[in-house]
Amino acid sequence: MTQQIKPDALTRMMTEHGQITEKAAFFRQALPVIKMGKNHDQINSFAAFLNEFIVSHFKYEEDAIFPRILERGDGQDIDFIRSLKADHVRILALVEDFFVKLDELLVQENPSLIESLSAKGVEIVTQTLQHAQTEDERLIPLVRIHFPGTMTSGTP
Ligand SMILES: [Fe+2]
Ligand SMILES: [Fe+2]
Repeated sequence: MTQQIKPDALTRMMTEHGQITEKAAFFRQALPVIKMGKNHDQINSFAAFLNEFIVSHFKYEEDAIFPRILERGDGQDIDFIRSLKADHVRILALVEDFFVKLDELLVQENPSLIESLSAKGVEIVTQTLQHAQTEDERLIPLVRIHFPGTMTSGTP
């Protein structure tokens, strides 16, 4: 009776975008307060969010979504996908920088480091929210075209 349902590309993208947008919006509010806080729980849960949602989502798009559009799309589509990849590179560089600073924080407790982590985090979520919105507006229609048969209906 158990049926294995593997989400199609469009369903997966839309679901993950919903989760990313919700969590990023939460952290955009929460991160600036961290510098005044006393524990690092928020920073740790933000680090988990980066790994579980942003890094893995970008990888999925680059492995499973972008190549097909690059192969089948027109010049405009190709330029668009290249600009999304450039966003990924820029955001992932910020993420990497965040983790380097997080390692430093583990070695030495330093209020200015917490402040800098918080600022870096806000930068990451701001850029990610912008990126996800662009994808919602322009990438999802392309997925519908280039992944035919995906999510033809939302109900049985
Ligand atoms: Fe993306
Ligand atoms: Fe995305």
